[in-house]
Amino acid sequence: MSTATHILVFPHPAQGHMLPLLDLTNQLAIRGLRITILVTPKNLPILTPILTAHPSIQTLVLSLPPHPKLPVGAENIRDIGNRGNFPLVSALSKLAGPISDWFNSHPSPPHAIISDFFLGWTHSLATQLGIPRIAFFSSGAFLCSIFSILFSDIARFKALHSVEFTDLPNSPAFKEEHLPSVFRFYNESDPDSRSFKEGLLANMSSWGCVFNSFRALEGQYLDHFRKLTVHRRVHGVGPLSLFRINSDQESSCEPVLTWLDDCPDGSVLYVSFGSQKWLSEPQLQALGLALEKSQTRFIWVVRGEPELDGLEERVAGRGLVVREWAPQVEILGHRAVGGFLSHCGWNSALESVVAGVMIVAWPMEADQYVNARILVEELGVGVHACEGPQTVPDPDELGRVIKDAMGLNAAQKLRAKELKEKAFEAVRDGGSSVTELDEFVNELVRVCP
Ligand code: UDX
Repeated sequence: MSTATHILVFPHPAQGHMLPLLDLTNQLAIRGLRITILVTPKNLPILTPILTAHPSIQTLVLSLPPHPKLPVGAENIRDIGNRGNFPLVSALSKLAGPISDWFNSHPSPPHAIISDFFLGWTHSLATQLGIPRIAFFSSGAFLCSIFSILFSDIARFKALHSVEFTDLPNSPAFKEEHLPSVFRFYNESDPDSRSFKEGLLANMSSWGCVFNSFRALEGQYLDHFRKLTVHRRVHGVGPLSLFRINSDQESSCEPVLTWLDDCPDGSVLYVSFGSQKWLSEPQLQALGLALEKSQTRFIWVVRGEPELDGLEERVAGRGLVVREWAPQVEILGHRAVGGFLSHCGWNSALESVVAGVMIVAWPMEADQYVNARILVEELGVGVHACEGPQTVPDPDELGRVIKDAMGLNAAQKLRAKELKEKAFEAVRDGGSSVTELDEFVNELVRVCP
């Protein structure tokens, strides 16, 4: 039996949370740690690339306990929607018993748990099992500092129409409707909300905190977050997508990439709103018109089969509509892509940084306004285009914003290229993220021999 340090990895079942934790897990496996990944049955396929790359990784497959507020059979936030996070986390917390049983009967049980920051309840589970728990933050340190401030005094902040975070570097201020959704959806009379809050605050007491972020992007916020924690072990180890196992050997032959091969450098706007958001019919029509009016080349990922009134024919080869899902990382990395009209989910934000592609921001919900703030206002690698989940943009106005943003010498484009360099520096040997990752693993192995 292997004597290597054994880690139980527990991702939150949402694509944007799972993928970066699996990227981190890949790095732990490469560094010789023994891994068991906990998933529900329907999320097992997301593990295929990592299980193929590391056949020694074990899985603990546990069914999601039922919850009256969750659709029967849904196991991923993609099928449940952001409002489902509270009941989903409550349902997952019912796994504490089965996890303890598995742990107690295991011949060489895990020495530590690394779990998503939404699963803060695992902090007390780990304490009961007598092992350390590490909180993995799939989002940035700016957002997570905001979370901890808001959730530490919910009643006060709920009463405000705008909040100024004077303790944070640059004292950012946010209107009520731009605060993270999990805070806005919080309801004190709902037990699922209350247990989510307790979990979020428990992250501060966990043995360590690991962020999918990096020093050049969020150094001052990582430092600020460290001050909020009990053990002061806070590591920025991203952008984790730079460690991703290429799951699809065929994807470089995708028609969308071949289409890009024929476009000039930096000329194409990539348009996509993450794994969860479906635009309404009026939004689709308005965005289609805006893309047409912008006279810009584009690739647009559209969910479902909506009728786009012959948009592709109208723009005569200047635009490509991709249905359902596109190889985003490869598209952004193509030399022809120069801009990304995005909802600013944290993964999309980091992927655009890694690709050196400027953001045209349309934040809608969740943490997206906070992320857009970092990209546009603090780092200057993007522009605001539109906001809100239901907003139907004015096609003339949005078309103009896109046209200006895609201008060859936009300052944002140049800054995006500089930030890309810094992202790659962070993951080189001796770079900040690799150094912090090594420190984290060494310390973990030291306390969990
Ligand atoms: C959710 C929340 O909406 C977001 O605000 C939060 O920061 C993370 O959780 P999601 O909406 O899916 O995430 O967006 P994002 O974080 O950007 O993640 C989407 C992931 O799916 C990215 O890694 C992206 O590359 C991938 N993707 C999406 C594709 O590969 N192809 C697609 O067509 C769409």
